[in-house]
Amino acid sequence: MTVIGGQWGDEGKGKIVDWLASRADMVARFQGGHNAGHTLVVGNETYKLSLLPSGIVRGTLSVIGNGVVLDPWALKAEIEKLTAQGLSITPESLQIADTCPLILPIHRDLDALREDASGKGKIGTTRRGIGPAYEDKVGRRAIRVCDLAHLDSLDPQLDRLLAHHDALRAGFGEPPIDREALKEQLREIADFVLQFAKPVWITVNEARARGKRILFEGAQGVLLDVDHGTYPFVTSSNTIAGTAAAGTGLGPSAAGFVLGIVKAYTTRVGSGPFPTELHDDIGQRLGERGREFGTVTGRKRRCGWFDAVLVRQSCAVAGVTGIAFTKLDVLDGLDEIRICTGYKLGGRTLGHLPAHAAEQAAVEPVYETIEGWQQSTAGARSWAQLPAQAIKYIRRVEELIHCPVALVSTSPEREDTILVRDPFSD
Ligand code: GDP
Ligand code: IMO
Ligand code: MG
Repeated sequence: MTVIGGQWGDEGKGKIVDWLASRADMVARFQGGHNAGHTLVVGNETYKLSLLPSGIVRGTLSVIGNGVVLDPWALKAEIEKLTAQGLSITPESLQIADTCPLILPIHRDLDALREDASGKGKIGTTRRGIGPAYEDKVGRRAIRVCDLAHLDSLDPQLDRLLAHHDALRAGFGEPPIDREALKEQLREIADFVLQFAKPVWITVNEARARGKRILFEGAQGVLLDVDHGTYPFVTSSNTIAGTAAAGTGLGPSAAGFVLGIVKAYTTRVGSGPFPTELHDDIGQRLGERGREFGTVTGRKRRCGWFDAVLVRQSCAVAGVTGIAFTKLDVLDGLDEIRICTGYKLGGRTLGHLPAHAAEQAAVEPVYETIEGWQQSTAGARSWAQLPAQAIKYIRRVEELIHCPVALVSTSPEREDTILVRDPFSD
C-alpha cells in the first residue's frame, strides 16, 4: 500500500505510517528528501524524521528508493540523533538505493541564493537544496550514491557539474566551487553512506515475490506535486502514488491501496495560493490548537478551512482509494465549521482549481457551514466515541471529495487512531 499527503504536506503522514508499520514488512520512501518533516509521538518520546522512512521507529526494514534526493550529511546527523534516542539503525534495518542522486552543499547554496534574490516572488522553499539536486538529476549531471565508491574517477563528472554551477554562481557574484574541498568532503562521508547502499530494486522485487507487505511512504502532498500542484509554488518531485513504482524500481501496480492523508482543515508552509486561508481569530486558533509550526524550518504554517475542491482534485489525480482524516480534535469546540465546496472566479463557478497561478490566487471560496461540536474528540479510539456532529462532518467530507474515510486520527499519539477500513486487507 501507499501513503501520500492529500493537501500541502504536514497532514500527519509520519504518525499514520508509524501506526501502520507494525503490520508492514518494509517501509520505503520514493521521492523528496530532507525537506520532509514528520513528528511521531510514542508514549513519552517524540521522534522527528526528515529523510528516514517513518518505519525506522518500529524497527521495520526501511528503504530509501532511487527517487529520493539524498544529503549524506543530513543522513548522518539524523541517524546520530535517532541513535541517541535509543533507536538502532544499521545496514540490516536501513537500505539506500545506490542510484540515489546526492544533494551537495552547492545545491543548498543555490537554493538559498535563488530564494534570497527572488524577493516577493520567492517559493519559500525549505532551503535544503531539493530543487537544484533534482535539476542536476534530470540534467544528467548528478553525483549518485554509487559514485562514492569511485571517487578517484569522479573528475569527468565534476567537470560537467561544476561548469554548470560555476556559471550560475557567477550570475549571483559568487566565487567558483572549490573542487578539491568538495572531493575531500565526499571522501570523508563516503564510507558512512556506502554501508547502507544496495540495489534497492532487487530488495523490493524480492520482497514482493515473497508476498511481503511493502508500505510506500510519500513525502509532501499532492498540491505540492510538480505537475499537479500549485505550480510554481510546489516542490520538485512527483508526490502522487504512481511515483512509488518509479522511485523504487517496481512495476506500475506497486502502489496497491492508496491512502491519502488529509487534515480536517488546511495548512500550507511557504508561498503560493491558498483559497480558504484564514487571517482571523479562527485561523490563529487552528494554528495554536494544531501546533502548526514546521518540523523542518520552524516556520508558522498558514491555516484555513477544509477545501473539498482541492482534496477531491488530489484524490482524483493521485488515485486515492481511501483517506486518513487527521487532526479532527483540533476542530473541537468550534460553534460552526465551514467547508469549501466550490470557487467563484469572475462570475463563473468552478468545481476545480484552475491551472494558472494568477487564477489560483484570484478564486473565491464558496462555503457550506455546518454546526460544530462541543465535546472533545481528542484521544478517541473508536467511532462510537465521536460526537454525532463530528461524524456528520466526516460523512459530508466523504461525499464532497468522492472518497471514503479509512482512518481517523484524534491526537499526535500513535494509538489515538480509529480504523474504519483496513488498507492492508484490500
Ligand atoms: P507529516 O509531514 O505529514 O508527517 O506531518 P507533520 O508531522 O509535519 O505534522 C503533523 C503534526 O500534527 C505533528 O506534529 C503530529 O504529531 C501532529 N498530529 C498528527 N496527527 C494528529 C491528530 O490527529 N491530532 C493532533 N492534534 N495532532 C496530530
Ligand atoms: P512533509 O513531508 C510542507 C514546501 C516548502 C515550499 C515548497 C518547495 O513534512 O509534508 P522545497 O524545499 O521542497 O523545494 O520547497 O514545498 N514543502 C513542504 N511543505 N510539508 C513538507 O513535507 C514540505 N516539503 C516541502 O515549504 O513551499
Ligand atoms: Mg511535515
